This record gives sequence, C-alpha cells and structure tokens, in this order.
Amino acid sequence: MGMTKRLPDTKEGIARGAALLKAGELIAFGTETVYGLGADATNAQAVAAIFAVKGRPRFNPLIAHYAEGECAFGDVTANDLARRLADAFWPGPLTIVLPRRPECRVALIASAGLDRLAVRIPAHPTARALLRVVDRPVVAPSANPSGRISPTMADHVLEGLGGRIAAVLDCGICGVGVESTVVDASDGFPVLLRPGGVTKESIEAIVGPVRRSEAARPLAPGMLTSHYAPHARLRLNVTTSTADEALLAFGPVEAGAPAVYQLSERADLTEAAARLFDGLHVLDRLVASLDLRGIAAMPVPQTGLGLAINDRLNRAATRITDEKKD
Ligand code: TXA
Ligand code: MG
Repeated sequence: MGMTKRLPDTKEGIARGAALLKAGELIAFGTETVYGLGADATNAQAVAAIFAVKGRPRFNPLIAHYAEGECAFGDVTANDLARRLADAFWPGPLTIVLPRRPECRVALIASAGLDRLAVRIPAHPTARALLRVVDRPVVAPSANPSGRISPTMADHVLEGLGGRIAAVLDCGICGVGVESTVVDASDGFPVLLRPGGVTKESIEAIVGPVRRSEAARPLAPGMLTSHYAPHARLRLNVTTSTADEALLAFGPVEAGAPAVYQLSERADLTEAAARLFDGLHVLDRLVASLDLRGIAAMPVPQTGLGLAINDRLNRAATRITDEKKD
C-alpha cells in the first residue's frame, strides 16, 4: 500500500474516513482510550486484513464499536446487568461481552468464532461521529503492531503502521490513555476480563462485586502475558534508578536520571493513565538514541486506574515468545 493519509478532525475528514471504511479499507481513528485500527465489522475480508496488518499471530476476538447502545444491543442480547452497565458507563471506556444474536451483523472472524461478542460505545465525539456516518459496527483493536505499545496520538499510529493502512483520522491526544475495561456480562454476573479506563470500584458501585477472571476466558489478549512492549528493557517498581536508565516517573523525582518522563508530578492516576503509552513511546526512543540500558518505572498504587496502569506495565515488562503476543 502507498501513503497513509492523515485525515483532519472535520466533517470532511470524517466523511472520507467513513467512505474508506465502507469500501473495505482500514483506517485508524482516535477514541477516548487509545487509537483503534478500524474495519467494517460486517466485511469479513476487511476484518481479516486487521490481523494481517497488525501481525497478530492468532485471530483474537475484537471489540465491535457503535455510535449508540441500541445499535449494539441489536447485535448482542442484553440482560439486566448489561443494561445497568450501559446506562452507567456508555458512551465511555467500558466494553461489555454478551451473547451474539442469531441475526448479528458482525463477521464471525471478528469474534474469533466465539458465541460471545464484545461491544462498546466510545465517548470521543469524533469517533462517535465516524460511527454514526458509517452506520455499521466497526471493529477496532488498538492501532499498533502486535505486542507493541498502544497509540494515544496519530503520530504513534503512523510510527507503527504508516504505509500499511489507508488513513488515520487525527483525533488529537486520547484523554483516558488506557484501553477500555472489558467485562463479560453474559452469565448475569460481572466478570472482569481486562482492567481499563473504567475502574473496578466504579463498576462495583453500580452492580456490586466483580469477579476477576484469570483463566476462565483465555481468549482475551489483554490477559496474555506479553503485550504493550517497548523495545527497551523495562524494570518495574523502581525507587532508585541507575545512571544508565531512563525513568518513567510517578510523583516527584530526585535529579540524576539521564532521561525522565513524568507521568504525573502530583501522583494523579488519571493524568498518569493518559500519559502512560506516550511515556513508553518517548522513553523507548530515548533509550535507543542515548544508548541507555533500559527503562525504570516508579511504583504506581494498585487502586482505581492504577489497576489498568500496573496491568499494562506488567505486560510491557514481560518478554515471551511471539506465539503469545496480541
Ligand atoms: O479501548 C479499547 O478497548 C480499544 C479502543 C480502540 O476501543 N480497543 C482495544 O481492542 O483495546 P483490543 O483488540 O486491543 O482488545 C480487545 C479486548 C481483548 O482483551 C479481547 O480479548 C477482549 O477485548 N475481547 C474481545 N472480544 C471478546 C470476546 N468475545 N470474549 C472475551 N473477550 C473479548
Ligand atoms: Mg491492544
């Protein structure tokens, strides 16, 4: 493929993006969480192209994105739990897994042949406008090569996938910065498949105790061990970094590190989540250009958005075979 077009966040840009999607092309677009690599979910060939372009080793199930909750519930069967979650968190960074309806329009390859489909209504106004114009479900995994850091700005997308996709709709910087929380509601009780932009605490405030699934649904790549990985070696929970390490800081730092990316000076988890992937992108480049030993990450508390941040950091620090990567 030739050049990847950068489409502006305008009515025309959205119309161009929608037309490309309808024609079976792949375009990346920003959501409030991360940039997604979108394809018309009803077009099995377009969906298959996502796996090829990302270099995903396996056909992992994808999230179908819609402009409205009612559209999503036309493709999956909602229950009382799902409706309460949707009322509280849609549009927003919550993905709900539910049984596919027999008349579900989403290609089977998108849900990897499973009888359950993940659906979400993004809150980003541009993403929603795009979905409204397309008027079909759009599947969109994070717009990064398999196993690498998720993109939170159009430049990140072009860095990883430039030349391999038709366009990126520039939606600015993603406000939430970590992917959506994935909850399986199929069985009438909430099972957390992936921590993300909606905290476990805020879900529990609406629907009561949430179970954490480790092994129950092995098909969630968010649950695979190696993911979001920078090229540089990443050391976690570091209180004193060495002189040859770049520092991913959370809260005040003492001078000394050769390169510092501050996630949040005032140790604010929301700010840190929004900056996490950019921090990994930036430090990864600095480690290479300054010839450093790796990245040292300061500890982040395991509450609220800290769950999602630590989940991504743990995966980014894990190196395993390509076989297991998303
Ligand atoms: O914030 C997000 O969710 C972003 C933006 C672009 O919307 N998308 C995203 O997609 O993170 P992806 O493909 O990188 O992650 C999808 C997650 C994975 O953990 C996947 O396994 C899970 O959702 N998932 C999708 N369909 C599923 C299903 N049918 N059953 C269980 N888990 C599913
Ligand atoms: Mg991803």
